[in-house]
Amino acid sequence: MDNFIQVISKYALDEQTTQRAESLREKALAAKQTLESGSGLGNDFLGWLHLPSSIGEQQFQEIEKSAAQLRSECEYVICIGIGGSYLGAKAVIEALSDHFAAYKAGNGPKMLFAGSNIGEDYLHDMMALVDGHKFGIIVISKSGTTTEPGIAFRIFKAMLEKQEGKEFAQRNIIAITDARRGALRVLATQEGYATYVIPDNVGGRFSVFTPVGLLPIAVAGFNIRQLIAGAVEMEQGGDEQVLNYAITRNALYQSGKKIEILANFTPRLHYIAEWWKQLYGESEGKDHKGIFPASVDFTTDLHSMGQMIQDGERTLFETVLSVGDQQHEVIIPSDAEDLDGLNYIAGKNVDYVNKMAELGTRLAHVDGGVPNLIITMPAVNERYLGQLIYFFEKACGVSGYMLGVNPFDQPGVEAYKKNMFALLNKPGYEEASAAIQAKLKG
Ligand code: PA5
Repeated sequence: MDNFIQVISKYALDEQTTQRAESLREKALAAKQTLESGSGLGNDFLGWLHLPSSIGEQQFQEIEKSAAQLRSECEYVICIGIGGSYLGAKAVIEALSDHFAAYKAGNGPKMLFAGSNIGEDYLHDMMALVDGHKFGIIVISKSGTTTEPGIAFRIFKAMLEKQEGKEFAQRNIIAITDARRGALRVLATQEGYATYVIPDNVGGRFSVFTPVGLLPIAVAGFNIRQLIAGAVEMEQGGDEQVLNYAITRNALYQSGKKIEILANFTPRLHYIAEWWKQLYGESEGKDHKGIFPASVDFTTDLHSMGQMIQDGERTLFETVLSVGDQQHEVIIPSDAEDLDGLNYIAGKNVDYVNKMAELGTRLAHVDGGVPNLIITMPAVNERYLGQLIYFFEKACGVSGYMLGVNPFDQPGVEAYKKNMFALLNKPGYEEASAAIQAKLKG
């Protein structure tokens, strides 16, 4: 099918891995069945599985109305969230935006992201940027208690109320959180903010097709209906691609390939890889198991990480996101003097050179012992991004079950929080605080 994400595994499979892949097919089918029947670990977090096909006209209209409100009154919209509460929206917006949108006067508000770090200078610079300008806030937190977005929201809420008044703030702050629980739900109710719900049965990293992803994407001016249409196509017709990816990466893992590098040759896909790393890292890294998800931007990183990939320890495989068409054409000009020796490609478009770099890299890496899986996307637009995101989500569920872990929890992320709260002397952490102080002294 031309109009569909395709997974090509032939450059990933040597004889031994082919045999492993064949023997894993039944396991993959069983994992898919477990996922679809809801009989596996973490089965109370499967709300994302049929989410795309369940979104109705009313939901689209509500989100589009909220987006129109923010677009009509705000020069900037600050999306506050961390992890699954921001990466999907950031990835789609970056993938679809003009690369230099931040420097151009545009149609609609500029999208900013806060609450995904605790960088004091980062927050200071953003405050300076929006100072004196009309801005809105989309605050996203399922738990409503996460420290990073909590700090950012406290700061920008206070700033907005002081700058534009309570009424403007009330109209232009939208909260996306749990239906009932958490501090953000309580605050939103008290302040009378418009709110959207993150369903109980959808975890953060699987929430792109809920308002968590859809509202910021709509505010940025992109077509959420096309995004969902693409996701529905994958939900309804993508199982072979899902199985192929899950089987091949698990076969490679069993062949000693412990690190998967998601590579792109298209700068606008950088944040798709960031989103993907969270999806696979948080879902699979458990019980001392899991493929380590890494990413590179080519050809840029061929000049930094290229040596390691070509010639370092042979524990890597690459999954290349290969894009068919660019949106624009730029021709390489001829030069009378040809001092740089580039006239041999004069008259070609830049993407032709990029495609040859992609092919040359694949041949070199496969020859060097780095198997390549290829995921082809006909173009980067809403529809294919919808397909791609759903594809990765479902393959992650299948792959996690094949690995024997619960792909839908993340107990490991609590360890740093406990130490941080103890070090900050948060009430309730007195015992942990004493233990840490003793450890630090010793
Ligand atoms: O995937 C996840 O569940 C996490 O990345 C969360 O999205 C992240 O920790 C943010 O949590 P919350 O939305 O509760 O603030």
